[in-house]
Amino acid sequence: MLMAMQSIQNYALQSNNSFNIKTSCSHIYFPSNLAELQQLPDLTVEPFYILGEGSNTLFVEESAPIIIQPKFHGITVEEQAEYYLVTVGAAENWHELVCFCLTKGINGLENLALIPGSVGAAPVQNIGAYGVEFADFCEEVQWFEFASKTLHALTKKDCDFAYRDSIFKQSHYNKGLITQVTFKFPKAWQPNLSYAGLDTLSVASTATEVMNQVIALRSSKLPDPKVLANAGSFFKNPVVSVEEFITIQAKFENIPHYPQANGEIKLAAGWLIDQAGLKGFRHDNVGVHQQQALVLVNYGSDFGADIISLAKYVQRVVVEKFSVTLIPEVRMISHLGEQAFTALNDTHPIGKLSHD
Ligand code: EPU
Repeated sequence: MLMAMQSIQNYALQSNNSFNIKTSCSHIYFPSNLAELQQLPDLTVEPFYILGEGSNTLFVEESAPIIIQPKFHGITVEEQAEYYLVTVGAAENWHELVCFCLTKGINGLENLALIPGSVGAAPVQNIGAYGVEFADFCEEVQWFEFASKTLHALTKKDCDFAYRDSIFKQSHYNKGLITQVTFKFPKAWQPNLSYAGLDTLSVASTATEVMNQVIALRSSKLPDPKVLANAGSFFKNPVVSVEEFITIQAKFENIPHYPQANGEIKLAAGWLIDQAGLKGFRHDNVGVHQQQALVLVNYGSDFGADIISLAKYVQRVVVEKFSVTLIPEVRMISHLGEQAFTALNDTHPIGKLSHD
């Protein structure tokens, strides 16, 4: 007999989002195998959201859409002469995977230590930190398509990875979900010490030493969501044209900037917010983190709308100073599903209050 998929009605999600926002959904489904995926309700008729560990999600209302939280578990390692293939269920925790690999002598993910979230979420926004990104080790992503109710194996090329972007945010958006990821780690390994803060390490460092340094760096700047609710970088680092950059640099000589392969220039959103005077800014229960201005923090609000209002304020102040529009990286979810930041109303305007 077919086992029924686990699902719960009227489910509270406050402990399922790292911003610690109070919200609940009418139904949550926990598919853990193909047969269960095939039992999911028709997702073309009602809004839904696929939730990993909720560490890049902001619920903006007291009610959320239908939630699907994949529960695919397990890690298998296949050793070849020159590389390892590691296949991991979408529900496995990302940092635990990094630690598991290093314990087995499989190097590569050390720069991505301590990133909150699940393995299945990693390809969606192509997580990256300290000079390394998910795509660097991606071999294949297994993806369940809702319409055909079948699994597809997508190669790294198929996934169209870019900075905080992939096919899962573009043409495949809301058309299916990731069930498992396969990584390829070449045995020939060298530490990647290119990023500021790692460049003090010796080139003879082990992967564990690199990981420990990444953990130390992250812990000094990024608040632990278990202690202070947040979702990491709230905005993406903006990318501007050379012409725009020259205009900005003329006024702000020491602006950090990172030339991109296509000739455009990436700016540091954290620096822009910091220079706009907002680092450590607090309004009631929400604020801009003291140590890293790109992180918005929740000191105790139950309402996603408070964070939205803060984010709109930050965006406005940065536009006024630099003429650069910051775009959120965090995904915003109302009862109607995912919403564009521009479509959300500022219901508790912080800007008005603090300019008075
Ligand atoms: N900066 C400031 N003030 C601040 C924050 C940053 O002046 O308050 C300056 C720094 O001094 C540096 C530059 O801005 O010159 C960049 O800062 P940092 O190295 O801290 O990195 P980031 O660009 O702010 C990105 C990722 C992080 C990732 C780090 C390290 C994005 C949106 N964020 O942040 O990812 O950990 O690099 O690689 O790309 C996340 O996505 O949630 C995340 C934390």
